Amino acid sequence: MAASEQTVANIQWQSQTSKIVIDPEFRDLIQPLTSEELDLLEKSLIEEGCRDSLKVCSDGRLLDGHHRLAFCEKHGIPYRIDIVDGIADRIDAKIWIITNQFARRNLSNFARSELALQLKPLIAEKAKERMLAGVKQDPTQNSSEGETREELAKIAIVSHDTISKTETILKKGSDLLKEAARAGTVSVNAAAEIVELPLATQDKIVKSDKQEITARAIKAYKKQEKRKQTKAAFESYKAPVEMDRVLKWAKLLEGESDIDRLEKLSDGNDDLNCNPRPYDVWFYNGSHPLFGREGYPGRIPGQIVLQLLYFFTQPGDLVVDPFAGGGTTIDACAVMGRRCLAYDSEPETCAARADIKLQDAIEAIKSLTTVGSSPRPDLIFLDTPYFSKKDKEYGNHSISRLNRTEYLKFFSDLAAAAHETLNKGGHVALLMSDYIDEDNPDEEIFIEDYIDIFKKAGFRRTRRIHCDLSTQQIHPDYINKFTDNKRLAILARDLVIFSLA
Ligand SMILES: C[S@@+](CC[C@H](N)C(=O)[O-])C[C@H]1O[C@@H](n2cnc3c(N)ncnc32)[C@H](O)[C@@H]1O
Repeated sequence: MAASEQTVANIQWQSQTSKIVIDPEFRDLIQPLTSEELDLLEKSLIEEGCRDSLKVCSDGRLLDGHHRLAFCEKHGIPYRIDIVDGIADRIDAKIWIITNQFARRNLSNFARSELALQLKPLIAEKAKERMLAGVKQDPTQNSSEGETREELAKIAIVSHDTISKTETILKKGSDLLKEAARAGTVSVNAAAEIVELPLATQDKIVKSDKQEITARAIKAYKKQEKRKQTKAAFESYKAPVEMDRVLKWAKLLEGESDIDRLEKLSDGNDDLNCNPRPYDVWFYNGSHPLFGREGYPGRIPGQIVLQLLYFFTQPGDLVVDPFAGGGTTIDACAVMGRRCLAYDSEPETCAARADIKLQDAIEAIKSLTTVGSSPRPDLIFLDTPYFSKKDKEYGNHSISRLNRTEYLKFFSDLAAAAHETLNKGGHVALLMSDYIDEDNPDEEIFIEDYIDIFKKAGFRRTRRIHCDLSTQQIHPDYINKFTDNKRLAILARDLVIFSLA
């Protein structure tokens, strides 16, 4: 008979305790009371007497009422004893004691699950006994681990997820964490997060914020810990040769998955948040020092390139940047484990970085198809000058010196070369703003114009991702000028992705 079905019989009054036996094993099955709970119990017994009877087995072993018995004896308070029927052996008694507690006290979910878990071996033992006795097995008594958990969850009135989390907390939790979970000051969900941390850290968290330990706070804590570990790994990495930070990161992240690379880069570098942004808006306030040459005109945030690589390439892919400038793409490719070929038309730009080859963009792209064994790019990234913007800052060979017709012709040739060279299944990514000149509308070039050019060359526009500039990138004097003249400055910038049509 299950403990919950057992009836209470043979009610009798008793004034002495000689027949009551305290079985330590039974006593220890009872969840301990806090000192406040004990005080309250003692007070209520003195004021109101012992209203509920103590429960014993037929052989006098106490099943329920250990604390009440002690206080009643201490203060000479009379009490009743009820004998619980249907307890055949010690296992039955234990099951009764555990099950009885669910009804008796206001227990936290953790405490309920913990109690239910104590039933687990007892239920199994009972099933074994039945089997040995040749009793036909009840299928629920011979259940799998998952089914047992489900059964325990029903008894404890919690979800089976709470049961399995409680099991983990009991196995791996610090004493302090378990105590807090038992008292309900830390929820089972929060404790399940904390339990993954070292024991000393678990204690630190429990002590730090007894009032409210939210899952978010724990995540932040974990993140902070991870950051420390990643930073320490980076700082303690002993490179075989002198290496700059980018190469050191590339070496450290070798063999990691894309997602781990981005997470570790974010963790290990101050002010670098480059976790994947699965939306078509990638806004970054500024460049990060890890990527590209500091101060290079038109240098873009490396985070944009990281996102581009994450969403549009695979590890080991070949990326070509024919307008390499400060080398942002090269650095982003290094830390993401992509191969990169980079070119620029300006001798000074190439002299500053040995990994940028001096070559005109179109020639460079074409050169990749002329030799049979030459690798075809999986991504061609085009961060060109935006028509004549910055024409003073780039050198004499820059397309920013071309007039509108020449500039657009250059783009048609560029698109044709890219079409000829790109790997099937690859992408061209063009980072571009509208060029607006309200005084000379004939000079204007819009992103739609570039899209038309690429379509004519045989491409399909697949995505248009907003990568707006920040207001910080515009000189305050310009902003004043625009405001006074009632004109809008251009912050809108798009990364247009093309694939072969
Ligand atoms: C906007 S910048 C690139 C900035 C780069 N993405 C970075 O983050 O540092 C454009 C670059 O294109 C180069 N350029 C202009 N015309 C070129 C051409 N015809 N062939 C190759 N490079 C060219 C310029 O010298 C300049 O370095």
